[in-house]
Amino acid sequence: MTLDGLPFAREVPRISAAQMAEVDRITIEEIGLSVDALMENASHKVATAARAVAGRVDGKRIVALVGRGNNGGDAAGALRHLANWGAEVRAEVAAFPDDVRDTTKRQLIALLQIGPSVVRYASPEIPRGPLPTADLLLDGLLGYSARGAPRGLIADLIHAANGSGTPTLAVDIPSGLDPDSGAKTDVAIRAMVTVTLALPKKGLLASGARETVGELLLADIGIPHVAFARVGIDTRRLFVDGDLVRIRH
Ligand SMILES: NC(=O)c1ccc[n+]([C@@H]2O[C@H](COP(=O)([O-])OP(=O)(O)OC[C@H]3O[C@@H](n4cnc5c(N)ncnc54)[C@H](OP(=O)(O)O)[C@@H]3O)[C@@H](O)[C@H]2O)c1
Repeated sequence: MTLDGLPFAREVPRISAAQMAEVDRITIEEIGLSVDALMENASHKVATAARAVAGRVDGKRIVALVGRGNNGGDAAGALRHLANWGAEVRAEVAAFPDDVRDTTKRQLIALLQIGPSVVRYASPEIPRGPLPTADLLLDGLLGYSARGAPRGLIADLIHAANGSGTPTLAVDIPSGLDPDSGAKTDVAIRAMVTVTLALPKKGLLASGARETVGELLLADIGIPHVAFARVGIDTRRLFVDGDLVRIRH
């Protein structure tokens, strides 16, 4: 891991899942930044974090676990950047094609367009089998909209990821960790590093969460200060030392 070059953040506020959803809504609906633009910012930062975790990525095999929502879209977009930087990439999607949200579907289509990536959706006929061998996993299964213990295909992929022994970089929060309380269900990703987006979700900094979260990074995805101010959080000094920072926890 080469996180040593990243600066530590100072005085980092934390945010609840409901507040974060409201900040995203204000940014998209009132300020007018598109969800795709924010996702592109997030994807690039997640890829940069993956490079910090893996060292060089050229020639490395990187597999993303992709959920149906925007958390999955961030991970799929990161794969596109990593492929562009020389990695061999693959997306394991925890949903049938028709169930994937449009924002995330656009990322998966773009990933296939740049080739030679592999995207594997859930299929009723073909069981998924074990995860392919990888140097790094990205966990994009569940983000701040996660509710309760992971179910179904998502739970299966979490078990497979933890059983693989492959280092995992979680996107925003490790899947299976409650974003507000930090309570870990029986099925939760054990991340080596988590890169959280915009602001740390409260649960990441709860006592006892560290063994699930691993090292914690915070990425700026371009959400304006005024959107955070609307929920009473001052972020004006947050990224003065860098736009991908470490958090002591
Ligand atoms: N523009 C951006 O880049 C941007 C903006 C905002 C957020 N984000 C990212 O997207 C994340 C939030 O995205 P999101 O609101 O689309 O949702 P998500 O956290 O990606 O979750 C997606 C879906 O997972 C399902 N789900 C929830 N709990 C589950 C469980 N315990 N087991 C199995 N499935 C479960 C829900 O679907 P059902 O409703 O069908 O149950 C939920 O809608 C953030 O954490 C962040 O990473 C990105």
